Amino acid sequence: MKARYATLVAGLLLALGLNAQAVEKMRLGHNQPEDHPVHKAMVRFAELTKQYTKGEVDISVFPNGVLGSEREMLEQVQNGILQITKASASPLETFSASYKVFNLPFVFRDKDHFYKTLASPVGEEVLASSRNRGFIGLTYYDSGSRSFYAKRPINTPDDLHGLKIRVQQSPTTIAMIKALGATPTPMAYGEVYTGLQTGVIDGAENNVTALTIGRHGEVTKFYSETEHQMVPDVLVISAMSWAKLSQPLQAAIKKAALESFELQKQLWAEAEKVERVKAEALGVKFSRPAKAPFVAKVKPMMDAERQNAVIASLLDRIAAVK
Ligand code: GCU
Repeated sequence: MKARYATLVAGLLLALGLNAQAVEKMRLGHNQPEDHPVHKAMVRFAELTKQYTKGEVDISVFPNGVLGSEREMLEQVQNGILQITKASASPLETFSASYKVFNLPFVFRDKDHFYKTLASPVGEEVLASSRNRGFIGLTYYDSGSRSFYAKRPINTPDDLHGLKIRVQQSPTTIAMIKALGATPTPMAYGEVYTGLQTGVIDGAENNVTALTIGRHGEVTKFYSETEHQMVPDVLVISAMSWAKLSQPLQAAIKKAALESFELQKQLWAEAEKVERVKAEALGVKFSRPAKAPFVAKVKPMMDAERQNAVIASLLDRIAAVK
């Protein structure tokens, strides 16, 4: 009788859709503050994931690098200690070699070419390339183009001579800075402000939000728009966490990620305008150097990179994206 009663109750609950669903709790850690467009997009990603999985996947977002630097969080994701993180494609290349194509200089013709490449089969292949390294890319986010900022204007490659420039922890960017004649100093993003302030570094290179949201414009007053790279940010999930999810849950998460990128594109376009005005108000002077001398300086490096057949083929496919 007892057993029959239990079966009846279970049957009723099932019919009412009240059967207790296991909730998959995930943490997403990243290094930007809450007013950054990438943070806002990831909050939307968490909300959409909850909506599309009907509450079965519950993501909490931890900003400000409280869980570690980009590299540290990537390692945690590889080990399944952290489920999701966002990292720049720059440090990602040491985890999965295909990301290198995003770190080479002057690869994209313009923003439209960049967006089309990210949405093309090349973009998806790179996202999938890290599966056997312990994580999978879900979506890209726009991180603008990177330009130099220092205590004096960088109008020609000669102006970089002898300067210690902070770079991301990426061999390709290190090689690029050397090719341009400066001394690369690899450092996590969270250390750059103090590095500039104390003079450990003479300058850095990044998008315009680093000046304001990252506050580097408080201590560095010349931003020279060389636009030498367009390095996307990437939202990645641990391969262990991914494997545990059913196919419909995986599809819901991927959909949420791609939709959050659509929102992020709008937020980014807005931020590029607004943050530039804020940087000018901080006293940052913008200049637009001629690009040709910078392109010429990195030509031998690009020729050497093209000796690698995989990279050459990826670059050709990117160039062919229309
Ligand atoms: C960009 C990028 C970040 C990265 C930072 C850096 O701002 O969006 O993901 O951390 O560059 O230079 O380290």
